[in-house]
Amino acid sequence: MRVNGGKESEVIAQCGKRSSATHEKIAAFRFPHVSGVCVSPTFPSQSVPSPKKLAHVVMRTPRYTEMVNFYRTVFNASTAFENESLTFLTYDDEHHRFAFLNAPGLADPAPGTAGVHHIAFTYDSIGELVVTYERLAEGGIHPVWCTNHGTTTSMYYRDPDGTQLELQVDNFETIEEIERFLTTQDFMENPIGVDFDPAVLASRFHSGEPEEALKRRTPMGPRSFDETVKIR
Ligand SMILES: [Fe+2]
Repeated sequence: MRVNGGKESEVIAQCGKRSSATHEKIAAFRFPHVSGVCVSPTFPSQSVPSPKKLAHVVMRTPRYTEMVNFYRTVFNASTAFENESLTFLTYDDEHHRFAFLNAPGLADPAPGTAGVHHIAFTYDSIGELVVTYERLAEGGIHPVWCTNHGTTTSMYYRDPDGTQLELQVDNFETIEEIERFLTTQDFMENPIGVDFDPAVLASRFHSGEPEEALKRRTPMGPRSFDETVKIR
């Protein structure tokens, strides 16, 4: 791959000469939307590898069948492997996106326990989010919180073990637009979200309202974490 007219490896090799201009070239390669970022202040002659993707989530559960069925339904997932102890589910070209370990008798985490707050999954459009909401609602699976974060329009669900899942759609097309939104007074005052009724969103979508209007967040003034009752 070429960077500013040169190969990435050449640029990285030159980085050992501590040229700030070269550092910026590499930064521009690895972080095209961020300027002035050095790849590695500690090891300037090397690039710093990051994972290329988030591969899967593994749950240990005392509600094995219930959990597998829930995830199979919510994500329209297929079973890649299954026995009485372990199940792999996938919804795309990854061999498994979720795995479940059958652990009968496992205790639930105590309220107020530290850990993962939620895991988020992005859909392509408001339409996909709405039809997913409707499909799940028909099967008795309802969101516990719907909010427009500004950056995303999000519906939160809770699995049978209590882990929260965010199904979302990005509200902006580019990272630059998101970065700009994060500097607005609106986001400074309310980094949490503006809640919405998913049935109303679905109705607006079916009436033909443009996606851009459906995703636009109406400022509501200051909001803090204290007011977010859905945080477990
Ligand atoms: Fe999130």
